[in-house]
Order: sequence, then C-alpha cells, then structure tokens
Amino acid sequence: MAGLAVNVDHIATLRQARGVTYPEPLAAAVIAELAGADGTVVHLREDRRHIQDSDVRKIRNTVKNRFILEMAVTPEMEAIALEVRPDLVTLVPEKREEVTTEGGLDLSGNVDSVLKTVQTLQDSGIPVSIFIDPEPDQIRRAHEIGATAVEIHTGAFCDAPDITGKKAAFVRIRKSVDVAYDLGLIINAGHGLCYNTVKWFAGMNEINEFSIGHSIVSRAALVGMDRAVRDMLRLIKEL
Ligand code: PXP
Repeated sequence: MAGLAVNVDHIATLRQARGVTYPEPLAAAVIAELAGADGTVVHLREDRRHIQDSDVRKIRNTVKNRFILEMAVTPEMEAIALEVRPDLVTLVPEKREEVTTEGGLDLSGNVDSVLKTVQTLQDSGIPVSIFIDPEPDQIRRAHEIGATAVEIHTGAFCDAPDITGKKAAFVRIRKSVDVAYDLGLIINAGHGLCYNTVKWFAGMNEINEFSIGHSIVSRAALVGMDRAVRDMLRLIKEL
C-alpha cells in the first residue's frame, strides 16, 4: 500500500505573501501527521520564496513521520542536509524564474555534481531520491548514479489538457515505473497530483509513496488540514 508524504511548502507561501509569522508550516505538518500522513516534505529553495531554514529545523525536530527534504544540487543545500539529516533527500532542478519545479533533473549530460551529492549524502547514511521525468533512459541513469529512489514527475500527466494527452502521459509513467521496478529502485511519484488524478494510479502497486502538496493545502484552506489529508489518504489507501 502506497504512503502519502504531505508537502507543506504552500502554507509557507501564504505566510510569505504577507511577510507575517502565520500560518505556521510546522503546525500544518503536525496536523497532517496526526491525520495519518506517512511523511512530511519541504522544498528549501535557494531563493527561500516559501520554506525558510528555521522551518526545516523546526519540522525536523518535531514531526515524527518520515521527513523528506527537497533540494537543488548545491554545496549550500548539501551542507544543510548533512546537518539536518532528513530521512530522505529528493534532488530537484531549480530555476529562479519558475513558478514551481518545472521538470525532472536532467541526467542526460554531465552528472558529476549530482553523482558527488548522491555519494556524499548516501555515504553519510541519508538515502537520496532523484526527481525525474518519466523517461526510461533517465531512470537508468539515476540507477547508474547509485540513487536509492526515484520520484517520477507526474506533472505532464496532471497538466495534460485533454484525455488523449493524459492517457499518453500516463503510458509514459507506467513504462517508467516498470523500468525503475526492474532496476530495484524505490519508486515515489509526485507533482501536480490532486484528488482526481491520484485515482489513475489504482493497481500500480510498485509506487512506494506519493508526494503531494498544492492540492492538499488548497483543500485545507476550505475544509481544514485534517480533513484535506484524510480525504487524500482515503483515496491512496483504496488504490
Ligand atoms: N515532488 C516534487 C519533487 C516537487 O518539487 C513538488 C513541488 O514542490 C511536489 C512533489 C509536490 O507538487 P504539488 O505541490 O503540485 O503537489
């Protein structure tokens, strides 16, 4: 049965929009954990547009479910990860001008810096996942690099404007999951998933965990964090 890791970045987005001290991402992470979330995710961006360093430390020191740190491959982030010691680091690409993470990490070119970060973190006992587009060649590269896990980017599937596009994108996800499974990688999935798109994953038992943020926080604004997490958990446990 797949798990649910709840990304609380956008609780911080709401706070940063006004430059105030509320709402508190830690409070959302605690409520999500009490509602049954298997993990808590934050993306500490280089531009600190939502999650701040203090959020990472507070959540790490309080929440007892799996703590997952999303980060770019930079010396600064590597040092923070080594200090905070998340249960999993997910490496993501980062561009300053993007609205959100736009694609998976591209492993087709020079991967020296990715390789070094994966080795450094994993040698220190922190497993590493690579956020990756659903392309078999990229998944094979992630395996060659030695990553413990991959997180399959579900954004193209979720954002496809019509059913034909959705089906085609989902076939790519299915094939990539098969490749990753055969290689023995732990398989997570995320980006753009909502209460409808998650249902497409029924029967895809190879998925270890879904990483979901925006749709849960959006629903939480209307019905509360506890119910928003429980609604998503129910769907995932039925898959
Ligand atoms: N997984 C990764 C690697 C991400 O970068 C994000 C967005 O921060 C998510 C999952 C969650 O995406 P969403 O907020 O659209 O659910």
